Amino acid sequence: MKLDRIISVSNRTTVFRDGGNAVKVYRASYPKSAILNEGMNLALAEELGLPVPRFRQITTVDDRWAMITEYIAGKTFRRMLTESPSKADALLLKWAALQRTIHEKRCSALPQINDLAAQRIEGSGLPYDLIRRLSERLQKLPRGHEVCHGEYALSNAMESADGKAFILDWKYAMRGSGEADGAWTYLLMQLDGFGREAELYRERFLTLKGVDAALFEQWIPIAAAAHYGKANERKRALLLHCIKTEDRGEKEE
Ligand SMILES: Nc1ncnc2c1ncn2[C@@H]1O[C@H](COP(=O)(O)OP(=O)(O)OP(=O)(O)O)[C@@H](O)[C@H]1O
Ligand SMILES: [Mg+2]
Repeated sequence: MKLDRIISVSNRTTVFRDGGNAVKVYRASYPKSAILNEGMNLALAEELGLPVPRFRQITTVDDRWAMITEYIAGKTFRRMLTESPSKADALLLKWAALQRTIHEKRCSALPQINDLAAQRIEGSGLPYDLIRRLSERLQKLPRGHEVCHGEYALSNAMESADGKAFILDWKYAMRGSGEADGAWTYLLMQLDGFGREAELYRERFLTLKGVDAALFEQWIPIAAAAHYGKANERKRALLLHCIKTEDRGEKEE
């Protein structure tokens, strides 16, 4: 394996290109079980017929765990949006519609998003009163059965030169309401500095077939609270703002 072409570096992984393969190398502290789970989720997505890079292998590279997948020659939606802001409308519609193709699938092997959100809110470190109100509201939300990506961010989907889309990074795949997945995508875009695009995405997503706009809005504070515990200080400020804005609205009703 020749790992001299770096595609991407994050604080948890480095992705290399090796000919027709992409090699995602994990930091030493990354739990083995999480890597195997990510590989399993990618394989499930492939078997469900979703457009994903083919899963090839989990192996070790210089004592680090690595996942090998098919290399996709193309650009992430994040890059396309940054390079061509004038095409934002069309790109975001395409991107939102791609997310809905995930929600059309069913897979009982994946964990329930409502259960994970409940656990995370409980351990979020938010004020006790807020946790109680959010948890009560979450209990009333439907337990959906749709496949959810769990981190449908702009950097987690690509388009090849011939216009074919691919969805990457399946480590957080779950099942639940697609609206929950959409609400977290909306927040992820804001956290990533794409505030205007997040509003466009929200508009586009809510017009798609089968989307329940009220449920999407109900999931925004819940999704924000579920991700609060793991967020850094900058992200926490934005998430808290979303939680409090929505919470105030609910209390006044
Ligand atoms: N199969 C692939 N083909 C081409 N490029 C890829 C492929 N897999 C990943 N990439 C590139 O590497 C980037 C990071 O990959 P990925 O999203 O899987 O990991 P990550 O977000 O860094 O992981 P983590 O969140 O665990 O740090 C993608 O945004 C994309 O640009
Ligand atoms: Mg990613």
